[in-house]
Parts: sequence; C-alpha cells; structure tokens
Amino acid sequence: MSGLIPADIVESVRQATDIVQLIGEYVRLEKKGKNYVGSCPFHQERDPSFTVSPEKQIFYCFGCGAGGNVFRFLMLSENLSFPEAVHRLAARAGITIPRTGGAVENSAARVQERAWEVNSLARDFYRQYLNRRPEAVHARSYLQKRGVSSQTAEIFQLGYAPPQWDALLHFLASRGCSSREAVSLGLLVAGERGKPYDRFRNRLIFPICDAQGRVAGFGGRVLDNGQPKYLNTPETVVFNKRHLLYGLHLARAAIRELGFAIIMEGYMDVVTAHQHGINNAVASMGTSLTPEQGKLLLRYTNQVVIAYDADAAGEAATGRGLDLLQELGFRIRVVNVPEGKDPDEFIRLHGREGWLELLTGAESLLDYKLNRSFREGGDSATMLARVLPNLAAMPGELEREEGIRRVAARLSLSWEAVKDALKRFQSTGGKKWSNPDKNVKSKHNIIKSSDNARFKAEFILLQILLHQPVLLPDLQREVGPSFPKDAGLREIYQLLCRFGVKGDNPVRWMDELTERGQRMLSQLLLEKTPGSDPVKIMPALVKVIQSDDQQEQKTQLLHDLAEAERKGDKEQVALVLSQLQELVQCRNKGALQKGGMTN
Ligand code: GTP
Ligand code: MN
Repeated sequence: MSGLIPADIVESVRQATDIVQLIGEYVRLEKKGKNYVGSCPFHQERDPSFTVSPEKQIFYCFGCGAGGNVFRFLMLSENLSFPEAVHRLAARAGITIPRTGGAVENSAARVQERAWEVNSLARDFYRQYLNRRPEAVHARSYLQKRGVSSQTAEIFQLGYAPPQWDALLHFLASRGCSSREAVSLGLLVAGERGKPYDRFRNRLIFPICDAQGRVAGFGGRVLDNGQPKYLNTPETVVFNKRHLLYGLHLARAAIRELGFAIIMEGYMDVVTAHQHGINNAVASMGTSLTPEQGKLLLRYTNQVVIAYDADAAGEAATGRGLDLLQELGFRIRVVNVPEGKDPDEFIRLHGREGWLELLTGAESLLDYKLNRSFREGGDSATMLARVLPNLAAMPGELEREEGIRRVAARLSLSWEAVKDALKRFQSTGGKKWSNPDKNVKSKHNIIKSSDNARFKAEFILLQILLHQPVLLPDLQREVGPSFPKDAGLREIYQLLCRFGVKGDNPVRWMDELTERGQRMLSQLLLEKTPGSDPVKIMPALVKVIQSDDQQEQKTQLLHDLAEAERKGDKEQVALVLSQLQELVQCRNKGALQKGGMTN
C-alpha cells in the first residue's frame, strides 16, 4: 500500500462518502433534529449518545468522546490505519488512488503487507490441496468424520499440508517467494545444514486471521493421535498468538449484534459453533486469556461468556486469566459444559438448541468462583478472600451491593463483615484493582480533559472562534504562548491561526489532526455553543486563562527562588523576588478590573 495519498484524492474520497450511510451499516441510527443518533459502537451504553452530523459529515460520542470523520470511523471500527481507511473508502466510491513512488513508503508496514500476501499464498496452496488433490482424501474424510461441512471448511478456509518436506517450498518458490522469506514467516523451518523444509506436513491446516481477515499464521492438526496435536506458526512480524483470537474476523459482526462474545478454547470448538449458527464464538487458542486478547475484544463488546472445557476453565479462573478480563472492564459469565465435553462435542451432540439452553444457565464470574471456592473448601475467611478481587472489580455500585449480598448469604457471613473485608481489600492490596469502568474509558481514551476551569475556558473560547474567526486577533492579543494548554485544543488553535481567518471550513482540517485533536474538533463542532453573546463572555474566559498563567508563573518563580537561596546566589534571589512582586501587583490590578466588570 502506498504511503502518502495526495490530499486532493483524500478530500474527494471524503466527499464521495456519505457518513450517515457508512455508519448506518454499523449502527442503527435515528434521525433527531438535523442529526442522527444511535448507540455508540465504541463503548457500551444504554442511552444513545453517539451523534452523526450529515451536514458536517462528522461523528461524536458524548459518552466516550470518540469522534472524527468517515476515515476515523473506519479506523476505529475496523482497526485500520489512515491510508488503509482511505483505500477502503476509495474502492467503495470507485476512486482510484495513484501509486506514489517508494520514497515515502513506510518499510515496516510494507514488510507486514508482504507477510500477509505470502501467508495468503500459502493458505491458497493448502486449500486447493484439501479441496482437489486425491492425496488429501483422508484429510477430507477426517473432516467429514468430525462433522465439518464443506461449506464450513470453505468459510474457515481450512486446508491440508501434504506429507512431503518440500511441497510448500516449491510452490512458494514458483510464486517468487524466497525460502529465506518463508522461513521468516514460519512457513518453512530453517533446517540444520541450512536446508529449509516445510513446517506443516500431513496436517489439517487452520489459517489464523486477524480481525480484518488477513492471514497472520496457521495452526496445523495431526490427523491421528500423533504429537504434538497442534503445531502453530512461531512468532513473526504478523503473528503473535497472545494478540489474536481465532475466528474473530468471522465473529465480530455477530458479537456486535448480540452484544456479547463466547470465548472457547480450540479451533474445532469455534468451527463447529459457527456451523451451527453460533456466530459470536472465538477461541483463545490455549487456556489462559491474555490482556491483549481482552483489549482486542473490547473493541466489539465488554460482555463475554467463557466456554472452556471443565477443568481448563477452572485453571483459567484460578490463574488470573478471567480476573484480568474483569479488571479490563468485562462482564463475565461462565458456562459449564457438562459431561466433561468441549463445546465442539456438546454442540454436535445437542445442537444449537441445547447450546442456547446451556447459555441461559451461565453463571456470573462471582457465582462461578463462589461455587468453585466451595468445592475447594476452607473456612469462610479463605473462601471470602478468593472472591474479593471479583467483588472489587464489579463495574457498578448497585451490582457490587448485590454481589456483597450474595457472597454474604452463600458464606453465611453478615453483610457488614463482607463489606468491611472488601473495604480493607480495596484500601490495601486491592489498590491495583482499579475501577474497571476507568479501564474501558481509557481504552477509548476518554480523557474528557479534567473538568478544570482552565480547560473549560479554552474549550468555549475555541468554540466561539470556530464560529466567529474574526474574533481571533482580539484573543491573540490577550493570551500568552501557553494558550491552549490542552494538547488537542492546541492543534486546533494552530490550524485556526493558519487558516481560520481565511474562512476555511474547519471540518476539512480533520485529517491533519491526531486522534485526540479529532475528538476535540468533533466535540467543538457538535456541542451546543454557549447561548450568550460571545463578545460578552469572552473577557471572563480570557481572565480565567490569564490568572491560570499567572498562577503557573508564580509557582515557577517560587521554585526559582528556593533554588537561588539553596545556591546562596543573592543577586538571583533579589531578581526573582522583584519578579514575584511584579506578578502579585499585576494580579491585584486584574482582581480590581474583574471587580469592576462584575459590579
Ligand atoms: P480437537 O482435539 O481436534 O477437538 O481440538 P481442540 O480444538 O478441542 O483442542 P484442545 O481442546 O485439545 O485444545 C484447545 C486449543 O489449545 C487448541 O485448539 C489449540 O489452539 C491449543 N492446543 C492444543 N494442543 C496443542 C498443542 O499440542 N500445541 C499447541 N501449540 N497448541 C495446542
Ligand atoms: Mn475438541
């Protein structure tokens, strides 16, 4: 993919895309006034605070602060880079993007692009082997024996790696891929005497894709009882098992739609689930969930059902796997697959209906841990200690109160005893269990920059300026170089100074801003402007900025003073003292003026 896309092309792609139509494919939007509103796809919410403006062609969520134009929306929801988002929308609008020369191309991105390309060559090789070659007949009958339909095999792009040591090697060579390259992608093994050979031989192949469906790596299963049962791609530039969830690219639409994800352990569990229309299932590809997998999933939902094999779920729950997810802000339920089966076997035996019934019986993580704690035994203090982290991490006050009641009842303790223990836990070791809501928010970067007066003043001033850039020179005379302090607002202010007075439409600046800047600009443009006459309220706002600046200067001078005294530099002490005095006088004058204004 080319590096820099010409600005005029970006602009025409933006104009060719209707934001309401695009977002409408992800979010159910309702018209409200001149805007559209819906439930934010970037955080969980009950009241729709996600707003789309057809007039300005931007979106902003008043709940989580996500905001920007069509490109940002696609970047956030599809996990794309800016050029990728532009390419995607260009293709949709039928606009061709000229290839720019190699000079500006980002080499790391190119290496990744190439890795996905070679991986998909390998995937195609394995697929056609499974589908067409007579030698693959036992692989096909293995799948059939396990109840995987050819349609499902197609959806998951399953393949077969032949037994030879050099089948993929020759195929890749014929497609212009060197063995060095294939070794670096883990498709070949380097070999003792520098003679590379195919890593996957006589195995059923499960391509492992990232959330966008790009082939990151492979899992290969033996067709008999050989060892190891599964072989995986080693870590490469695009493959890190800890960062991937098997099946996510196929599951994410259903996850959004249903509002929760089911996390299973294995490839086969997910394949079978999807074949039975349980499309929100993904696999962690091992027992313990990683924080990276959690954060990845958080893009789509914060509700999960864990459907692990009985023993493994226990392991994951006692290890910090599930606690970690809860800490990230997930609401977790656990389903116990009975009869020592895994979801694959259970679903094949009892079908979709049986599975859905099982789901309705899923316990909350707290109940699950309580029950488990009971089985493990110990006195009530021990059992209580095991669930305190989960109580502490519960997202809402009400939910936590309810949790405390349940724990108290179950362990025959008084409500006060549990509450006290929780308090102690929270004030000591439990500190690292931050409020999970905060995690969800910081994931979405909801630093609604502190409520402090300075920020508010800066925000309203910029809002006024965006609507009436003619007031810019007045402001520039009054505020110092530290205006605005907020980094996002600062980006916008700089653009205002450059283009604002020329009457540029600020919506066009979006792509020049960082993500934070984009959120801010969207908020500035979509939030109601203060009703009062700007010319009247500006002086008061400017005053807030000035006194904050003075306060900061004073702190700095006091610091300088202490430093000079420590060094015994009398001259410097005298200088700083006089500066301080000047500052205080200046402030008193200000206070007098302010008094004059309000009276
Ligand atoms: P089937 O036995 O075919 O039903 O596979 P499964 O998906 O049920 O596998 P299992 O429950 O044994 O293991 C769950 C997941 O752990 C697998 O899907 C793999 O991702 C991973 N896994 C299991 N065994 C191995 C192994 O030997 N090596 C590696 N690297 N991963 C494994
Ligand atoms: Mn299995």
